[in-house]
Amino acid sequence: MVLSTHEHRNANMHDTVLEADDYTYSLLRGLTARDKRIPSRFFYDAHGSALFEQITELAEYYPTRVETGILTMYGAEIGATLEDVAAFVEFGSGSSTKTEILLDHMTELSAYIAIDVSSSALQAAQQRLSLKFPSLLVETIVADFSDVVDLPKKFQNSHKAGYFPGSTIGNFYPDEAIKLLQTFSKTLGDFGHLVIGVDLLKDVDILNQAYNDKLGVTAEFNLNLLHRANAEAGADFDVSAFRHHAAYDPKTGGVDMYLVSTRQQTVTINGQSIPFLEGEKIHTEHSHKYRLEDFKSVAQTGGWMTERVWTDHDQMFAVFELRTVTPKSRVGLRGAEAHLGAQ
Ligand code: AVJ
Repeated sequence: MVLSTHEHRNANMHDTVLEADDYTYSLLRGLTARDKRIPSRFFYDAHGSALFEQITELAEYYPTRVETGILTMYGAEIGATLEDVAAFVEFGSGSSTKTEILLDHMTELSAYIAIDVSSSALQAAQQRLSLKFPSLLVETIVADFSDVVDLPKKFQNSHKAGYFPGSTIGNFYPDEAIKLLQTFSKTLGDFGHLVIGVDLLKDVDILNQAYNDKLGVTAEFNLNLLHRANAEAGADFDVSAFRHHAAYDPKTGGVDMYLVSTRQQTVTINGQSIPFLEGEKIHTEHSHKYRLEDFKSVAQTGGWMTERVWTDHDQMFAVFELRTVTPKSRVGLRGAEAHLGAQ
């Protein structure tokens, strides 16, 4: 196989051949490591995306429902604080479903810029949103949001706000989340805002149930990683010899998902043998659960001041409005901290 030298996809790169190589390369890299892992961004092939949609409708899976509730309840208020925003930039927009709730309240907005690695998802979202908001300019960019993305020149001096809902930030460990937030601020430039959805730490039983639903949809979503490896990387996983495991881990501060080998076995990928012991685990997802204060400090370290936080009344989920700490306001950081402390 041709080993791609790209650890991360380059911004704006959408060459399917290179993407396939990048996929196999990353898969092999993770499975030949001492602690086996598969990157959680690999969940979202067509079948995985459909399974995730099903997860969002499960009784046990509260995040989507609660976040949508917060956005619906406080949409007018959130829209009002983003009043002078000209361009709204969504990172990993997917189907852009949660975007409409806010677009309804952002009457001054001239452009919505959707960034995603899937050009088909972008096309569908562009068609739908252009019909629903005829006066809005809908732009799409095929790119990986974890790299700095070059926005079209015409928005260089526009007041921009980023949007990162769905607690996707939870798939990054706090040190990676800090780096991602720094990247967002580079993409958006000075005086940017960011509206970000964050899942909160709560009763461990509620967390564990959300990732171990009775219908087994989350298990299927997890095991789909192996079906995908068989289909796209020529792997020969016996999927029935692996089981889903997910639990909140106080040591990592999040729910960690694994695929556990139920017997000793050898899997072959691209001619390479990968041995598994009975009970050996593949780490497939970290979903971080924050305390409000902890996310505020992650944001601050990543270069963002917390302007406002909206939560549901059980504090299950939070929507943060952040503002970039620009070089100028960084000089006055003490003043800003005093202001935050007074909230
Ligand atoms: C889309 C990353 C927010 O972490 O809850 C759902 C993905 N994994 N069930 C999450 C997921 C298992 C989800 N995020």
